[in-house]
Amino acid sequence: MCGIVGIVSGLPVEDRLFTALRRLEYRGYDSAGIASIEDGAIVRRRAEGKLINLGRVLAEHPLNGTTGIAHTRWATHGAPTTSNAHPHATGEVAVVHNGIIENFKVLRDELMARGRHFESETDTEVVAHLISELVEDGVSPVDAVRQTLPRLRGAFALAIMFRRQPDMLIGARQGSPLVLGFGENEAYLGSDALALAPLTRRISYLEEGDWVVLTRAGAQVHDVANQQVTRAVVDSGVSSDTADKGNHPHFMHKEIHEQPVVVAQTLRSYLRRLEGTISLPIPEFDLAGVKRVTIVACGTSYYAGMIARYWIEQFAEIPVDIDFASEFRYREPRMENGGLALFISQSGETADTLAALRHARGEGQKIAVVVNVPSSTMAREADLLLPTNAGPEIGVASTKAFTCQLAVLAAFATNLAFANGRMNAADVRHVVRHLAEAPAALNAALGYEDEIRTVAQSLAEARDVLFLGRGADYPLAMEGALKLKEITYIHAEGYAAGEMKHGPIALIDEDVPVVVIAPSGPLFEKTVSNLHEVQARGGRIILISDYDGIEAAGAGCHATITMPKVHPLIAPLVNAVPIQLLAYHTALVKGTDVDQPRNLAKSVTVE
Ligand code: G6P
Repeated sequence: MCGIVGIVSGLPVEDRLFTALRRLEYRGYDSAGIASIEDGAIVRRRAEGKLINLGRVLAEHPLNGTTGIAHTRWATHGAPTTSNAHPHATGEVAVVHNGIIENFKVLRDELMARGRHFESETDTEVVAHLISELVEDGVSPVDAVRQTLPRLRGAFALAIMFRRQPDMLIGARQGSPLVLGFGENEAYLGSDALALAPLTRRISYLEEGDWVVLTRAGAQVHDVANQQVTRAVVDSGVSSDTADKGNHPHFMHKEIHEQPVVVAQTLRSYLRRLEGTISLPIPEFDLAGVKRVTIVACGTSYYAGMIARYWIEQFAEIPVDIDFASEFRYREPRMENGGLALFISQSGETADTLAALRHARGEGQKIAVVVNVPSSTMAREADLLLPTNAGPEIGVASTKAFTCQLAVLAAFATNLAFANGRMNAADVRHVVRHLAEAPAALNAALGYEDEIRTVAQSLAEARDVLFLGRGADYPLAMEGALKLKEITYIHAEGYAAGEMKHGPIALIDEDVPVVVIAPSGPLFEKTVSNLHEVQARGGRIILISDYDGIEAAGAGCHATITMPKVHPLIAPLVNAVPIQLLAYHTALVKGTDVDQPRNLAKSVTVE
């Protein structure tokens, strides 16, 4: 959700800033911009829309400065126009910002009353003016920032550049991520380590409230109380070539196809295959004492959490609450001692999930986090960190992170059940055997891509699509609907199959395709009854099941998608593949932008 980057160097920075922006574009693509200092003046290049438009502007009007800041935007305040594109600047100061300055209206009125002129509708521009006012009055840049930061409410990661000090940048972080990078005689700021990977792997993570003065010689970090502090320099472990599509037409396609490998990679850290046991990264973490689990997440991660609820309730027989982070945080629920709060996030930076985590911590909960970015804020605030090793996920629609989350959650639920005496060693061995089969089953599922592509042809014509499932396939139905909405803009709803007769069945006619996820298993017959209810009303069924399920219920369906027959525990992982590929191929037919769907962004660091 907005990406920022800054470089202080002795060499031109335009190309490197642009490369970093390319690696941040998943965070927003409403506009992009770069500023640097040339001949004693702040110079900006900005363009609305995707980064490629800024590329065109730069080709015609290159920048030669050796210090610069850059931004890729997901619009919050103000339309995605060039005048609202960052950097925002006065003659003295230029600023890029990720987050929301919540009190910007008050600050803007105050600044306008003092005669300041605004050229954008953004919240960010007030930051440039507040600092500029002080600098114009002779206050040093460092003091001007120090005085301005306490006036800002909300969330921000900022990179600030000063006309009169062309060899320095100031960065600040509150609620939005910001990392520092160190090179040979140059230094960097960025929203994440991925952006800085082509520049350096030597990075420092700023803490909440930190601000930093960056020069070619390095960084001087101050904490929220303005005390000088040291933040460890670590190896980011991020390779510079990870943001590459390889032979795939889209990142989403690559990431769908990576699933067998990354799920195997993820499971390797949890399963002891030979012993038939599961070990968590912190074996001494007391799971036996857990009396209640509260799961909180957003988007696709939330649906992974819903599936985990079925597993934890079934295997560990522990009560589970689940909520969207955006609801949970403002409900401010009271939580009993002895509870475990489980947060699920690909990025580890989603603002609502992070705020929910801090609320749960305040309520005395132990904090477990399933996260894909090990250096993220959530990872650093966890008592029990449960990493998914999915590698960087660039496609805005989450795919491989989801199946890796499921793999970790299945392992976690099993361990919880074992620790609570609800499963014995033989039960665990049984689960381990089936989980270990997941990568091969995912691979087999990918083998049905041609079949799925054909089905997608007919889906592309629909205005509305229903997805139905029961048990763990109900959240999967919602995930299927979300994937379709996100990248094809077709209206879709995921529903619990048994609940359909209480409303959505009124939508059914021959124009509404209904995707039914019904693998063989204890709930199969029940779901098939609901399928017949749809058929009886002329509905067009697309049935996703295994060979036995298709044999039993495929007759009369508009289309069937045959998945490998697997244990019910890993069925949601396997059936995730056809719903992802259905959305992907439908998007191709519709010609929408698969990797960067309109209005969306990854890593949502605003509320
Ligand atoms: C955004 C992304 C989704 C993601 C959700 C939660 O909406 O587009 O793909 O599922 O945020 O993100 P997180 O990083 O917390 O899993």
